[in-house]
Amino acid sequence: MKHFIIVGVLVVLMSALTYFGLTAIGLMPVEASAQAIPVDWMWNLQVMAMSFLFALIVVPLVYSLFVFRRRRGDTGDAEHIEGNTKLEITWTILPLIAVLTFAYLGAYTLGQTRVADPQAMTIKVHASQWTWSFEYPQGFTSKELRLPLNRQVVLEMDSKDVIHSFWVPEFRIKQDVVPGRVTEYRITPTLIGTYKVRCAELCGLSHAYMESPVVVMSPADFDAWVAAQSKAAAAAQAAGGAENGKVLATKFGCLGCHSSDGSKSVGPTWQGLFGAQVELSNGTTITADEAYLIESIVDPGAKIRAGFPAGSMPSFKDQLSTTQINDLVAYIKSLK
Ligand code: CUA
Repeated sequence: MKHFIIVGVLVVLMSALTYFGLTAIGLMPVEASAQAIPVDWMWNLQVMAMSFLFALIVVPLVYSLFVFRRRRGDTGDAEHIEGNTKLEITWTILPLIAVLTFAYLGAYTLGQTRVADPQAMTIKVHASQWTWSFEYPQGFTSKELRLPLNRQVVLEMDSKDVIHSFWVPEFRIKQDVVPGRVTEYRITPTLIGTYKVRCAELCGLSHAYMESPVVVMSPADFDAWVAAQSKAAAAAQAAGGAENGKVLATKFGCLGCHSSDGSKSVGPTWQGLFGAQVELSNGTTITADEAYLIESIVDPGAKIRAGFPAGSMPSFKDQLSTTQINDLVAYIKSLK
């Protein structure tokens, strides 16, 4: 009985020491998402269980090594024990209960990390060997993932080639990205800061370098960043459109009748045309906006510029797609 009491006290002490020791090391990085809270709660519970099991094995072992070792001159046999049914039932039932409890808690915690907010913002994540790219609903793509504070985000992830895995340790959640399938990752960032997404699935030569910055920002900063990115994307798109429009203008012969430098020709020059007040043959004046330019390409006879002959331009309605017409308009816009 004396031994049981001593070992019992030592097990409690050892459990506490191990638990506080493991906690003090700081095994986990900062908690930066709402989903990290249930994960860390579960982790803490497991550290407690591990500390107790460690003590339960190590303390009786070391205690027996010292207290029950063979005395000098003792040549007798130890007591012969033929099984112990009670003990065997106990050490079967207790671990079974422990495992089932943890299975239940694990499933419950997993469910908590997946609670969906209907207001969540969706960002598409594209993984490929060996980069991440993030497609925002506002119509631009970024090489870094920027997120607003305290708002749930759903990442809809796909892979172009092999299996990757999206992992931000500070968010705790990890999710595979599988080719031919869209996987989901829900996160509500709760701490402003700069983190890193790493690929957690061996995916080839540069797997170790497949990482991107993850920046959690205040909602105001995030909105400003989104506005700047959208503007830059729109400008890049317009520049690309104007570039293509110039090619089309040459290909379809537009520049044969419309100059791009202000010089006189069969038709009105395109230089400075967009946004200008133009006089029509019926005596009225209108603004040369997008609608007017598009109409003049599709139906040239609708509004004739004063001083230019009617019926000299054919309709390009069936020759140009909507995108091509928009590119032509972008080119005309660029001729200031
Ligand atoms: Cu992608 Cu490892």
